Amino acid sequence: MIRYLTAGESHGEALVGIVEGMPAGLELVTEDIDVHLARRWRGVGRGGRSKFETDNVHFYSGVRFSKTIGSPIAIRIDNAAYLKDRSGWSVIMATDGSGGGVEAITMPRPGHADLAGVQKYRFDDIRPVIERASARETAVRVACCSVARKLLKVFGIEVGSHVIQIGGVGWDTPQEYRGMVDSICEQGAEQLYKRADRSGVRILDDQLSERCIERIKKAKSDGDSLGGSYEVVVTGVPVGLGSYVQWDRRLDGQLAQAILSIQGQKAVEIGDGLMSAREPGSAIHDPIIRKDGIFSRTQNRAGGVEGGISNGMPIVIRGYMKPIPTMIKPLESVDIVTLKQQTTRYERSDVTSVPAASTVAEATIAFVIANALLEKLGGDSIDEIQERFDRLSTTVSG
Ligand SMILES: Cc1cc2nc3c(=O)[nH]c(=O)nc-3n(C[C@H](O)[C@H](O)[C@H](O)COP(=O)(O)O)c2cc1C
Repeated sequence: MIRYLTAGESHGEALVGIVEGMPAGLELVTEDIDVHLARRWRGVGRGGRSKFETDNVHFYSGVRFSKTIGSPIAIRIDNAAYLKDRSGWSVIMATDGSGGGVEAITMPRPGHADLAGVQKYRFDDIRPVIERASARETAVRVACCSVARKLLKVFGIEVGSHVIQIGGVGWDTPQEYRGMVDSICEQGAEQLYKRADRSGVRILDDQLSERCIERIKKAKSDGDSLGGSYEVVVTGVPVGLGSYVQWDRRLDGQLAQAILSIQGQKAVEIGDGLMSAREPGSAIHDPIIRKDGIFSRTQNRAGGVEGGISNGMPIVIRGYMKPIPTMIKPLESVDIVTLKQQTTRYERSDVTSVPAASTVAEATIAFVIANALLEKLGGDSIDEIQERFDRLSTTVSG
């Protein structure tokens, strides 16, 4: 099984990650990761930082001659803000004593970790909270998880996503886009992300995209921010990943955590989860058929997971993101030192990060699936796993 850890502050020198447990023999070059890091920066509604941070990974270990060697993969992404010393970040974020005179931040921003963070860690400066709670961390998360994504690709498992709506503008129900998404995903879910990436907001319909972009412009001119929702689809997932035998082995629970672990994500839905709470069972549960010697379903309202186990249908999971908490429109807060009630001060920020969040979600979901695949198959090298995967493909076909 694989795991990863990240470290790094938003305006520190670099973000670093370690991916452990990746089998040997996986072809891996920095471009496999950089392509997804670039996608994370794109999208209408992103703030000023997207203009000067060009994220590229450096491997320090675990890869030799463009192949993994089974040992931990250490990854670094530089923060251009620090390296170019914009706004004096090398002093503000100094790891030695040289930043002693830096002014403390004392106004906690509602919707951020600021107040709970200083209370928890007993800081008198909010800066350390801001720096680590920031979604800048998702850059190195995407990097670590993109290694898992490369592993999945070897076994024909693909991950893609598209945005459903931003600030209430977009698709209203899954039925409106289900046919389009399913037909794109017949060629594998990577087609889905490539199609969605053609739009500045990652919405598949051109007219809806335009309306959504207008909505974002309006929010920007109002000094406001927007949330939204998106869908991640995984195709080629074999039957039998995850299990019902213990709570923490349920695949649906792991998928949900992968979404909710991303900054600002407030709800998650697997398959038609929301609708299934309203409609009768006869409309919701997916009838089982046997087609060309393989068990299948006539529909996929379960989103590819039943009883905590992948059932061979595409995995479908939706994430719901709250509006960005940093806005030009001020919010009420209380200074932690003077204890005066005041309004918050604007800092550089996105108007919406839903398109970016959807690409981060693709990555975190890929990691969960890769981990479940390795849990199921074991194996230390790609060749060994391939043999087991081929046997699995024949044994689960029914
Ligand atoms: C990719 C991405 C980019 C984000 N960019 C910003 C931003 O520029 N400004 C901001 O205030 N919040 C931004 N956020 C949202 C905050 O990180 C999030 O609202 C904050 O961490 C609090 O959410 P939580 O309560 O879920 O931790 C972003 C989130 C993601 C996923």
